[in-house]
Amino acid sequence: MVRGAALSKIALVTGASKGLGLAVARGLSTAGYYVILNARNRTDLAAALKTLPGPGVVLAADAADPQFAEALGKIMQKENLPHLDVVVHSAAINHMGTVAETKPENAAATFHANTLSVISLARAVRAHLEKSRQPRFVFVSSLMKYFAMPGRSVYAASKAAAEQIVLAWAHELAAEKSLIRVQVFRPAGINTGFHSNTKTDGVSPRSDVSRMDADKAAGYLLALIQSNRAELAPGFMNKVVAFVARHFPAVSDMLVQRRYLRRRQQT
Ligand SMILES: NC(=O)c1ccc[n+]([C@@H]2O[C@H](COP(=O)([O-])OP(=O)(O)OC[C@H]3O[C@@H](n4cnc5c(N)ncnc54)[C@H](OP(=O)(O)O)[C@@H]3O)[C@@H](O)[C@H]2O)c1
Repeated sequence: MVRGAALSKIALVTGASKGLGLAVARGLSTAGYYVILNARNRTDLAAALKTLPGPGVVLAADAADPQFAEALGKIMQKENLPHLDVVVHSAAINHMGTVAETKPENAAATFHANTLSVISLARAVRAHLEKSRQPRFVFVSSLMKYFAMPGRSVYAASKAAAEQIVLAWAHELAAEKSLIRVQVFRPAGINTGFHSNTKTDGVSPRSDVSRMDADKAAGYLLALIQSNRAELAPGFMNKVVAFVARHFPAVSDMLVQRRYLRRRQQT
């Protein structure tokens, strides 16, 4: 068995039992990383680990739990892993439903998994990343963060709030002269089970901006890690949407409203 200490590159991927996280973990493994796969369901993680071309280990834990740091520390010690080079925070849950449909406990669970996880994870990984020569922390956000999206408000807000925390952390790290580089990945519409994996309070149409294959999206994320960019929306259409949302918010607001009214008339 290859032990961690013998390896030069070590990555932690949250949400790595399926979907984008698993595709990213496979990509990192192919690139020679020892990968720590995190999600909550141990059975799914064990199956995911078998699909990696290289060595790795599973960490079954809630990434948003304050106990996550301890669980990570224990596994790194046990596997003799001296540092982390890359952390990809892909774990999240979906939420759909209008504001009127939304149950407060489901809204809270969404913010717990998607937003507060950034804080527990940042606290858990910082010391391990500081031991790397080129440490990277990649937050998987969503193009949705730009929009006050009818029927998806809680999910969109959870990503927007998470980004504020991530970006504030990046400023703090820079001020402290840390080498940790924070990067934000903003996909839309990836072909995963995301829309069916989480019980939600209503229905909302899947994004029609892009329906990207998970491996293709993971390829863009791996390219982001290799680059000096601070952020990336994968694919041409996503870049156009991000550009319009950022520079012409009144236009994107109008398009969101029109799209929502059209969808309501169709149903
Ligand atoms: N799919 C899309 O259309 C789309 C579009 C834009 C952005 N994104 C973003 O892309 C990322 C990946 O989504 P996906 O499509 O790959 O979703 P997915 O297929 O549903 O996978 C989500 C993963 O996160 C894990 N997870 C959920 N809550 C967790 C927690 N609290 N702690 C640890 N692991 C947790 C899940 O496993 P367990 O349930 O076992 O924990 C699973 O491994 C998310 O951040 C999502 O917001 C997705």
